[in-house]
Amino acid sequence: MRIAIIGCGSIGSKLAKAADEMPEVKRIYLIDVDKAAIEKVAAGLNKAFIIDSLEEELYHCDLVVEAASQAAAKQFLPKVVARGVDMMIMSVGSLVDDDFRKMVFEKAKVTDAKIYIPTGALCGVDGLRSASVDEIESVHLTTMKGPKSLAGVQYLIDQGIDVDNLKERTVVYSGPAREAVKVFPKNVNVAATVSLLGIGFDKTQVSIVLDPAIKSNSHELRVKGRFGEMVCHTYNLLEPENPKTSHLASLSAIAALKRIVRNEWFGI
Ligand SMILES: NC(=O)c1ccc[n+]([C@@H]2O[C@H](COP(=O)([O-])OP(=O)(O)OC[C@H]3O[C@@H](n4cnc5c(N)ncnc54)[C@H](O)[C@@H]3O)[C@@H](O)[C@H]2O)c1
Repeated sequence: MRIAIIGCGSIGSKLAKAADEMPEVKRIYLIDVDKAAIEKVAAGLNKAFIIDSLEEELYHCDLVVEAASQAAAKQFLPKVVARGVDMMIMSVGSLVDDDFRKMVFEKAKVTDAKIYIPTGALCGVDGLRSASVDEIESVHLTTMKGPKSLAGVQYLIDQGIDVDNLKERTVVYSGPAREAVKVFPKNVNVAATVSLLGIGFDKTQVSIVLDPAIKSNSHELRVKGRFGEMVCHTYNLLEPENPKTSHLASLSAIAALKRIVRNEWFGI
């Protein structure tokens, strides 16, 4: 199998390393706007090829993985699936736009390309996926983070919330997932994953809580429906090189790649 990884940051670099050790993976094409990042990752791999653009390589690629940004996902996803190549998306918030999402899923249907969304930094999506076959009454995701992990977010600046001087636990957002994904584009991909699997971006409720006493992050997923009730807590440790990203997110990308390359679908 030949794969392309867009984004050689925290997730992409770990995924590339894991892919390099998978015998099923023969070539790894690496793309990043940051040349230093790409060269650093490539230097530690045996199967890596640095490329400037995906256009040519799409003819030789079996799977493209986006681990870069919402903008990159929106840029590459339509092209990749139009060519009939499978794609894994980490910046799940890119799928919040209904017209864009419908367009790429329609394209993928026509070309028989698969779009993979790993579970990301959250547990409990397996239960939600099964539960959503029947009626779901409510889905509520509460994400708790250390304030500095949301440094520079315009929405917080506009609300007058100073993440450097927050003294107590504060709910900084409470509302539908659609808005949460838009105002925290780098931080709440799990809200997008939960929305896509469950009752959609408008009905899924999200609360974002900042707590100066914590340095990691946690998610509480609460689902009620015909199946009963489910509460699932995930306490994440963060990647040292990127405190916005949970280690579990990188692991979920690697786990998804393993399932794809080995064609093993346990717990599907
Ligand atoms: N699904 C989840 O649960 C989950 C969890 C954490 C992060 N994420 C998302 O995954 C993505 C990657 O996260 P990360 O922690 O590895 O980020 P990172 O900042 O560590 O790395 C991103 C890399 O992508 C590169 N990049 C950005 N835009 C690009 C473009 N248009 N083309 C090529 N390269 C580009 C950057 O130069 C950088 O090297 C982010 O969008 C993040 O929000 C998802």
